[in-house]
Amino acid sequence: MRDYAPTETAPAPEDPLVLHVLGARPNFVKAAPVVRALTEVGVRQGIVHTGQHYDALMSDVFFADLGLPEPIANLGVGSGSHARQTAALLTGLEEVVLEHRPALVVVYGDVNSTLAAILVCAKLQVPTAHVEAGLRSFDRGMPEEVNRVVTDALSDILFATSSDALSHLANEGVDPARVHLVGNPMIDSLFSALDRLDPAPVRARLGLGERYAVATLHRPANVDDPAAAKELVDAVLAVSERLPVVVPLHPRGRTRLAEAGLVDGERLSIVDPLGYVDFLSLVRGAALVVTDSGGVQEETTMLGVPCLTVRPNTERPVTVTHGTNRLVTPAGLPAAADRALAGGAATPSGELPPLWDGKAGPRIARVIEAWLGGRNLSPAAQNEPRDAL
Ligand code: UD1
Ligand code: UDP
Repeated sequence: MRDYAPTETAPAPEDPLVLHVLGARPNFVKAAPVVRALTEVGVRQGIVHTGQHYDALMSDVFFADLGLPEPIANLGVGSGSHARQTAALLTGLEEVVLEHRPALVVVYGDVNSTLAAILVCAKLQVPTAHVEAGLRSFDRGMPEEVNRVVTDALSDILFATSSDALSHLANEGVDPARVHLVGNPMIDSLFSALDRLDPAPVRARLGLGERYAVATLHRPANVDDPAAAKELVDAVLAVSERLPVVVPLHPRGRTRLAEAGLVDGERLSIVDPLGYVDFLSLVRGAALVVTDSGGVQEETTMLGVPCLTVRPNTERPVTVTHGTNRLVTPAGLPAAADRALAGGAATPSGELPPLWDGKAGPRIARVIEAWLGGRNLSPAAQNEPRDAL
């Protein structure tokens, strides 16, 4: 595990505590830069792992790859229906918050662990901050969209990754003074890992040549319904006729996608989920990515790899306007793959998303540090040198 930079000031036991609530794979990636930046300014903090994701390849490997400190508690909530999982999260998190009495609870993204932490804190009147606020797919059929709307309505401090989030939050009546456009901590993690992203060893391990595509599929709308899964698998098989495809398969889709025909073959390789560094190494060397992931849309934009997102919408439109991402239907996937493979990864705007510069973590830490000190940093002031605060 990589060590963090030495702190300027070690926190004292009586210092206010910042608790990060993490539960699922994308949470770990978003939190690592924030935890690191808060460590560097000497803020006392702890991680609560809810246990929403628990397989070593969905959890432990991220703590190791991202250098996250050990959690102070693991609630072990595991899997279940939305109601069962959220109920276990609520009761577990309430106990932890009452025990540790944090000054601030930081939540990330749009998973059930995020929603539960926000509800618990709102009822206990513990202040909260939401990292990745204001993203909207405007599709309430997605469980994540419900989580986003509720989380943003109840958060005290909101950290946005892209400017479209600011208008969504304003339209929902969120006071702009609580919103800070800070850039994207998932991209901070990518920058930190860049030196370690080497496709060659992962390719060799998986028996892949130099030209291949990577696919990740786990959205309920794509993998839960047998008919939808079949349509998607047929489209992925058509892509595999063009170039070899490797699928690091999320546990959610495993059974249904296999039933629909997503099985190992000469040009299709189905593997366990990969660790963070292995996965992004593979993506970095790929000719094409096919996905329904949120985070992968952002990472391919930064790595300049063509990305086809098999969804009717995205809460991350900046990856289309400022990146390599295109939305496709399953039926349209093979032709879109041909176009992407022929044309490379030109971005419509020719520019990467503003503030996706690897410094979101320090900007977030600046706001939190000032807030803990009793100052409410104006959205413009978070970029000022720390000494000026
Ligand atoms: C969750 C998030 C989703 C996010 C995804 C990231 C919610 C509502 N959804 O979806 O937004 O994109 O995480 O990966 O919070 N399972 C395992 N091992 C694990 C974890 C899960 O086998 O370590 C299996 C279980 O069968 C479980 C299923 O995956 O029932 C779904 O897990 P769950 O955490 O409920 O939702 P995800 O689909 O992972
Ligand atoms: N990821 C990974 N291994 C994999 C698939 C994804 O490390 O096999 C990483 C990916 O690089 C990104 C994060 O997991 O950082 C995204 O998680 P996921 O797609 O599960 O969730 P979403 O972003 O859709 O919520």
